[in-house]
Amino acid sequence: MADGWASSVPNLGKNLSFLSPKQVELAKDLVEMGQSHLFEHWSEPGVDDDEKRLFLDQLIRLNESYPGGLKSYIKTARELLADSKAGKNPYDGFTPSVPSGEVLLFGDDDFVQYEEVGVREARNAAFVLVAGGLGERLGYNGIKVALPSETTTGTCYLQLYIEHVLALQEASCRLAEGSCQAKIPFVIMTSDDTHSRTVQLLEKNNYFGMSSTQVKLLKQEKVACLDDNDAHLALDPHNKYRIQTKPHGHGDVHSLLYSSGVLKAWHEAGLKWVLFFQDTNGLLFKAIPAALGVSATKQYHVNSLAVNRKAKEAIGGITRLTHKDGRSMVINVEYNQLDPLLRATGYPEGDSNCETGYSPFPGNINQLIFEIGPYLEELKKTGGSIKEFVNPKYKDSTKSAFKSSTRLECMMQDYPKTLPPTARVGFTVMDAWLAYAPVKNNPEDAAKVPKGNPNHSATSGEMFIYRSNSLILRKAGVKVEDPVRQVFNGQEVEVWPRIAWKPKWALTFSDVKRKVSGSCSISQASTLAIKGRNIVIEDLSLDGALIVDAVDEAEVKIKGTVHNKGWTIENVDYKDTSLPEEARIRGFRFNKVEQLEKTFTEPGKLTLQS
Ligand code: UTP
Repeated sequence: MADGWASSVPNLGKNLSFLSPKQVELAKDLVEMGQSHLFEHWSEPGVDDDEKRLFLDQLIRLNESYPGGLKSYIKTARELLADSKAGKNPYDGFTPSVPSGEVLLFGDDDFVQYEEVGVREARNAAFVLVAGGLGERLGYNGIKVALPSETTTGTCYLQLYIEHVLALQEASCRLAEGSCQAKIPFVIMTSDDTHSRTVQLLEKNNYFGMSSTQVKLLKQEKVACLDDNDAHLALDPHNKYRIQTKPHGHGDVHSLLYSSGVLKAWHEAGLKWVLFFQDTNGLLFKAIPAALGVSATKQYHVNSLAVNRKAKEAIGGITRLTHKDGRSMVINVEYNQLDPLLRATGYPEGDSNCETGYSPFPGNINQLIFEIGPYLEELKKTGGSIKEFVNPKYKDSTKSAFKSSTRLECMMQDYPKTLPPTARVGFTVMDAWLAYAPVKNNPEDAAKVPKGNPNHSATSGEMFIYRSNSLILRKAGVKVEDPVRQVFNGQEVEVWPRIAWKPKWALTFSDVKRKVSGSCSISQASTLAIKGRNIVIEDLSLDGALIVDAVDEAEVKIKGTVHNKGWTIENVDYKDTSLPEEARIRGFRFNKVEQLEKTFTEPGKLTLQS
């Protein structure tokens, strides 16, 4: 017999007898929240009963994984959808201006000093990789962290990150007074789209040398999709007994760190810093030591890493927003909102470059460093929920219907939006060539990026690593020949010598300078891979390919002239499906014609002289 509330949805009322009390309770709440449509199509009892129970179990999960439950989700959705329909500007009343922050030039004294402080602090840090995204723009069939960051050594992103954390851990411990057993925690936020493949990648590769107890995976749940402005939850088009769900965005990382107890455990263990970063940036660890040094020196509660940004480049701009009522905050403004905001507030040119050739607003690369104490205190108040947004694609200008279902989303960089004015929120700007090489776009879209702006593709992601390593060696005194320009997959890029090294070889500029001496030169056609820890280069003239590896206990000096036919670069057609996807999406592969490859397996002082 159906209760009063259930009689309004007869198809649900008939089915209550085989549902658990918890399932009935949620069904009742949903009806009261105006979600009766979820049950209207239910069949007679005895038909699809298991599916109906699974449907309610899914709703229970959605209810429990969202702070405040579905009630809160639907309420916020209705408010945000109404604002969106009314065309309300989220920055109404705010005026943008260029904020001031720490600007570092690679290799300067300040930079070198901050790097030293950062390495010292690293043993008090934890690292969090957000890797739950679908990567729709890239369209790669695997998970993004499994992609090679560069194909000279074939090191995938996850391996690169783990090796960097391990190298930092060791370097930091070396600077500690007394014994140091630090094991820097490494958290990966996954989602249903990436979780099992991330576990497989780690297990197949023995956690890339990290202890498995150091790594923790936190899986984010998706959120319910919404069919209309009344926030009616969307049924899955392929199964009427499922709710359609989509990712909620990387902002979930805050509530997960809080609800899992991980953040509290780090605080109790005396850790001081948490560093957040994204799945495909092969250069980010070049910026981490100095940026962490800035956080420690300036005592920033929040430090966002930024780079020079080209106007209209698809990264947000760090902006000071001052409200008419006097409030002020330094925050990331998404690239698609920066242009209209500027135009509406007295900058008729909108998002444009200034005399430096860059936008005056530094580009946010979403690498964030938080001080754990104040962060935990804040999350105790908020539970880690982050200001959300909604981005429906409307059918027409009446904005009364959507082209497809939408959902609420949140971004991890919006965390400072709710902080009090007393919070120490800063940012650190570094050279883009040093710190930023994301892989987000598929070749076709990357080829359409306006000339002069970075393509953010697998092609540019790899080439930027070589450019950065070449420029670092140049700054350390090596004569590195100029690059040539070449087109791969329709994108013109600079091709520098293909130089790669393991993080344990050099983490900071001081490390590089210690390991390179005399008069060294590297031609544009060269390939250089340094895989061992204690390898020094002295008076080396390289024109060809040189690959050196050595056990940690071997001290190897490389001297003299290495001249061979080297590795040539072959263009690869994106559409040639007979080739591996990893090569196709970058548009090139190496032809290993000739090389000098040397592996030192015995301890001792050794010299490679040719
Ligand atoms: P991106 O902006 O690259 O988004 O995310 P994406 O979802 O991976 O790719 P597109 O937009 O579909 O092309 C930035 C970072 O945030 C992570 C991504 O894995 C990436 O490291 N992310 C994104 C999450 O962890 N969860 C999400 O829900 C979304």
